[in-house]
Amino acid sequence: MTKKDKLEDLKKLCLNCQNCELGITRNNVVFSDGNPDTAKAILIGEAPGENEDLTGTPFVGRAGKLLNEFLEKAGINREKDLYIINTVKCRPPKNRVPTNEEKDKCAKYLYEQINIVNPKVLIFCGATALQSFYKEKVQISKIRGKWLEVEVNGDKYKSMSIFHPSYLLRNHSMDEGKPRALMLEDLKLISKEIK
Ligand code: URA
Repeated sequence: MTKKDKLEDLKKLCLNCQNCELGITRNNVVFSDGNPDTAKAILIGEAPGENEDLTGTPFVGRAGKLLNEFLEKAGINREKDLYIINTVKCRPPKNRVPTNEEKDKCAKYLYEQINIVNPKVLIFCGATALQSFYKEKVQISKIRGKWLEVEVNGDKYKSMSIFHPSYLLRNHSMDEGKPRALMLEDLKLISKEIK
């Protein structure tokens, strides 16, 4: 079976999933974006927002557009270099942070997507993504920019945490040492690693 076939099978299960209450309120399951055959990295966000829930595609709203700008500046091609997913596949009402139960119920899809795509690098975009792989509570600002080895179902992956673009929407400065400048630094490191 090809990667795409395996992911299609997993997607079918996910589209019918009613393992948590988000299944009642969602419009669309947001499974993934990008090309699993060419992607060298998986970027993992938190959960779909309103635009993602309406379109079924991750990171297409305001945060997604800002993410696209940073990816382009760092020389990362969103369609070719990345497979983009979320920790939780359905939108939490009013964009609240997903509960532990929701994350636990959705983890099998998340981990399986990673094992099937088997990328060179995992990118944890924000604290919710990081915490599904790294149990110690640590702020993104403390761990960003560092390569970290994580295990997913027994397979080891090189990973880096980056700020979530929603955080950058509230922090505009591009000055050295500020979140936007650090985001660009981190994405450039990732870009170098996957080229
Ligand atoms: N924020 C996320 O974490 N993921 C999305 O897909 C959109 C916004």
